[in-house]
Amino acid sequence: MKKLVVMSGKGGVGKSTVAVNLAFALKKKGYKVGLLDCDVHGPSVPKLLGLEDIRGLEAKEGKIKPLDIHGVKVFSMGFMLPSRDTPVVWRGPIKHKFIEEALNNVDWGEIDYLVIDLPPGTGDEVISIVQLAKPDGCVVVTTPQSVALEDVRKAINFAIHAGVPVVGVIENMSGLICPHCGKTIEVFGSGGGKKLSAEMAVPFAGKIPLDTSIFKSGEDGKPFVDMDSPSAKIFEEIVDNILENLEMIQEELKKLQEKAEKAKKEAEKKLEELRKKVGKKSEDEKQN
Ligand SMILES: Nc1ncnc2c1ncn2[C@@H]1O[C@H](COP(=O)(O)OP(=O)(O)O)[C@@H](O)[C@H]1O
Ligand SMILES: [Mg+2]
Ligand SMILES: [Zn+2]
Repeated sequence: MKKLVVMSGKGGVGKSTVAVNLAFALKKKGYKVGLLDCDVHGPSVPKLLGLEDIRGLEAKEGKIKPLDIHGVKVFSMGFMLPSRDTPVVWRGPIKHKFIEEALNNVDWGEIDYLVIDLPPGTGDEVISIVQLAKPDGCVVVTTPQSVALEDVRKAINFAIHAGVPVVGVIENMSGLICPHCGKTIEVFGSGGGKKLSAEMAVPFAGKIPLDTSIFKSGEDGKPFVDMDSPSAKIFEEIVDNILENLEMIQEELKKLQEKAEKAKKEAEKKLEELRKKVGKKSEDEKQN
């Protein structure tokens, strides 16, 4: 199972929209997928999938059964909250325990990918989740206007330092598709995400337009990637890029590990030879 976390420098940039649609796009490609909403303060996966009224989930032999939503297994912190309007006020250690529970005790069964929606930023919860989940890759979502902010750099640097390879930066709300004529209006400018990715030497995965149909699909609780729209096609290309990057990075990592393993064996062999040599020398000295 490969774990992908979706991060952002700040909230409201479309992180959860990307997480949900990434999960459903992977499902559409024929993979078995789980979606874990770890945003303890503002879980929005239930809303984006029309599951706001779900409270509590069935458990079997101490394992929580995730919901099956059109073939994607879904678990959200939101399902465990007392009510939809209850703010979550809990202390760090309890939060850590809760996150641990969600990561270890949800019965995902056999899945190819687990997509994890994180809280925004690089706070304690994000650190906890990344430490506990050990993701294989990280997708960073930004908007054109927040590219200039320090937050998104911080998020990328956080991933790099945590040893989680960035498999794609997404510039969301990049250009508005006019619902009347279909032309694109660059509301907040565009292209900053690509520039930033190049600067920070992480792969850029693509741009998602500001699209009323994306907003509407969120309101209706349906993934937009399941609709027949230009944005859905754009998103599928972004997912292809992410998968390609993930595969490339994993291959490189494997090569590096093999190289390190070989170097270690060689060093052990040399050390053994040296030991023998020194041993023989002292034997010779004893005899003389
Ligand atoms: N490309 C887009 N076009 C139109 N609306 C969008 C787009 N991306 C996200 N949204 C909307 O913006 C709001 C915030 O998105 P969300 O994914 O919840 O952000 P975050 O998880 O970063 O806080 C939601 O109402 C969502 O439907
Ligand atoms: Mg969110
Ligand atoms: Zn127009």
